[in-house]
Amino acid sequence: MTLQAAQKPPADGTKTLYGGKGSRRLSVHDIAAAKTRGEKWPMLTAYDAMTASVFDEAGIPVILVGDSMGNCHLGYDTTVPVTMDEMALLSAAVVRGTRRALVVGDLPFGSYQEGPVQALRSATRLVKEAGVQAVKLEGGERSLPQTEMLVQAGIPVMSHLGLTPQSVNTMGYRVQGRSDEAAHKLLRDAKAAQDAGAFALVLELVPAELAAEVTRSLHIPVIGIGAGPDTDAQVLVWTDMAGLTGGKVPRFSKQYANLRETLGDAARAFAEDVAGGSFPAEEHTFH
Ligand code: KIV
Repeated sequence: MTLQAAQKPPADGTKTLYGGKGSRRLSVHDIAAAKTRGEKWPMLTAYDAMTASVFDEAGIPVILVGDSMGNCHLGYDTTVPVTMDEMALLSAAVVRGTRRALVVGDLPFGSYQEGPVQALRSATRLVKEAGVQAVKLEGGERSLPQTEMLVQAGIPVMSHLGLTPQSVNTMGYRVQGRSDEAAHKLLRDAKAAQDAGAFALVLELVPAELAAEVTRSLHIPVIGIGAGPDTDAQVLVWTDMAGLTGGKVPRFSKQYANLRETLGDAARAFAEDVAGGSFPAEEHTFH
């Protein structure tokens, strides 16, 4: 892509990645151009068509069908049990619920670790069956052959470094890249992912200074979560962002609504109307 082309705004009639109402689906080229313009943009997860349509209408340019669906939608304790069948089903729903957002489907644990051929089979399924425009996979050096294979096959890849929740059993949930050695490795991995053809990189739970250095060093956009304010984009898990998650929410997340309270109040109000006989009323009744 030429510099001139990269500086162009999205071709759907909007000036910025965020906030557009155009009906053309955004592409990885629009995402690349936002970095050249210095535009910061938001990404949210979604796991169903209705929620995805709300975010799409709100102008969120990139929606991730994250394997966080394991904890946030399917009732598992971690992301590890999520299967390709679950990912394909929910990714298809998110694609159906959106018109403009670029939809990225996560490759779940066990769907790409065997090697590039397995990764290609899994990613192809998400692209063909679910209709996603890109896939995400975790890991630096160990996932490079997979990234190269997918990119060669024409499937855009978003890399994921720092805390990689699929490795929770070896890594735990800790800030990554704190030592000089770990920071250098992360920077090396980030550049290697870019060289392998990744179009974007998620950096999860790393010191802000390191995230800023990675962001400056790469020409592809860096999307932070718990990685400070200096990345090109920010992603949040939607149930944390909207206050639906029960129990402990990560310190790096910000709650913009309290859906758990709102939904609970609605359910209690309905139950009381039923118990008291005031629902259904005449206007809800057919004769
Ligand atoms: O699965 C997910 O939701 C993610 C984000 C936290 C980036 O990987």
